[in-house]
Amino acid sequence: MTDTPQAARPNLQSWWMPFTANRQFKASPRLLARAKGMHYFTPDDRPILDGAAGLWCVNAGHGRREIIEAVTAAMGELDYAPPFQMGHPLAFAAAEALASILPEGFESSFFVNSGSEAADTALKIARAFHAANGEPERVWLIGRERGYHGVNFGGISVGGIANNRAAFGPLLAEVDHLRHTHDPQRNAFARGQPEHGRELADDLLGIIEQRGAERIAAVIVEPMAGSTGVLPPPQGYLERLREICSANGILLIFDEVITGFGRLGAPFAAERFAVTPDMITMAKGLTNGAVPMGAVAVTSHIRETMMQGPPAAIELFHGYTYSGHPAASAALIAALDVYRREALFERALELEPYWQGAVHSLRQAPNVIDVRDIGLVGAVELAPVDGRAGARGYDVLCRAFAGGLLVRVTGDTVALSPPLIISEAQIDELVEKLADAIASSSREFQ
Ligand SMILES: Cc1ncc(COP(=O)(O)O)c(C=O)c1O
Repeated sequence: MTDTPQAARPNLQSWWMPFTANRQFKASPRLLARAKGMHYFTPDDRPILDGAAGLWCVNAGHGRREIIEAVTAAMGELDYAPPFQMGHPLAFAAAEALASILPEGFESSFFVNSGSEAADTALKIARAFHAANGEPERVWLIGRERGYHGVNFGGISVGGIANNRAAFGPLLAEVDHLRHTHDPQRNAFARGQPEHGRELADDLLGIIEQRGAERIAAVIVEPMAGSTGVLPPPQGYLERLREICSANGILLIFDEVITGFGRLGAPFAAERFAVTPDMITMAKGLTNGAVPMGAVAVTSHIRETMMQGPPAAIELFHGYTYSGHPAASAALIAALDVYRREALFERALELEPYWQGAVHSLRQAPNVIDVRDIGLVGAVELAPVDGRAGARGYDVLCRAFAGGLLVRVTGDTVALSPPLIISEAQIDELVEKLADAIASSSREFQ
């Protein structure tokens, strides 16, 4: 199912593409040439409805003039400024703009360039915080099975997606994992937060018993696991994690790279679920995907603890050449402005019931074994083809694209996360196109 005419194709050999079966892709490429609003366009100008906000990041839709103009102006003024022992006004303004939408108790953010860097930075801050707080033995980091925290060594150590760890040898040693919360036996076709699974947070008690609370630095979880196939947190689960962390001096990190910036109908999932972590990692929607950027937001308590030493001492021996880059800072400020002016976080919340009904109508499609949703996120899990896990999911991705729809697939789960500007009519169109792709795929695998 090749989708790009030969004449419109660049030479595909030199770019080693990430998380892609390169040889398969290059034999049958899917190219996106431009984008506007809710659509991508292929090189031959075929519209593709964006059911994935690019890769969970283009929350305000594509081609936003305000962001493009802000970035262009910033680059005209200052192409680059070093962030070590130097500063520039836009980065400070960006951090202040971000602070205005962070949950209460958060004021400062550390800028990075991606979600992966945000995760590793947060893990390092956790250990450095405890060291500064007189508890340097707190080094254990607790993640969760099926968790995704990017691809750097810290992130894959606490992450729990087997394929992302398999080829890379020994990872961080002082790491344990909570069990994941996916429980289709009890929760299949749940709407919003599933009813069962709160008790899985008590896994942390077992780890505390084994390792000793005084050796554990932090727990990192996605409030809603995204990349593994959309797992909304069971009711009461995050609250229980918070409770156990607080009782034991353990920092709680929410990885909000996907859930931040309105995806769940609130600025952050922390607010959606009324559970406040100690650190929030973010990226993607931070700039509406327009310029690479990530951030780690910390509570005032963490910040103040880190600022206790002599004023001339560097508090954190960590940072990146491009931390707070002028182009990214400008994009952040402009993106937050668009979100606020168009009330997009509120819009996501208002659309949620309609979205939920539409996504759950896919229960009727062939081979669907679960449907999940929360905020403007949905997932349709398909029965794997015998002995060929992932084959059906990939086939649906290709068929959806051929039919004019972009979705994200992990294994045999189709994940949906459209830009928050999507209309009800476009939600119907998205669901119809996906239903067609699933139906035609089921004929292929009969
Ligand atoms: C929860 C979470 N953390 C971290 C990352 C990594 O982000 P990046 O690809 O920008 O490194 C992602 C990416 O999808 C993510 O979903």
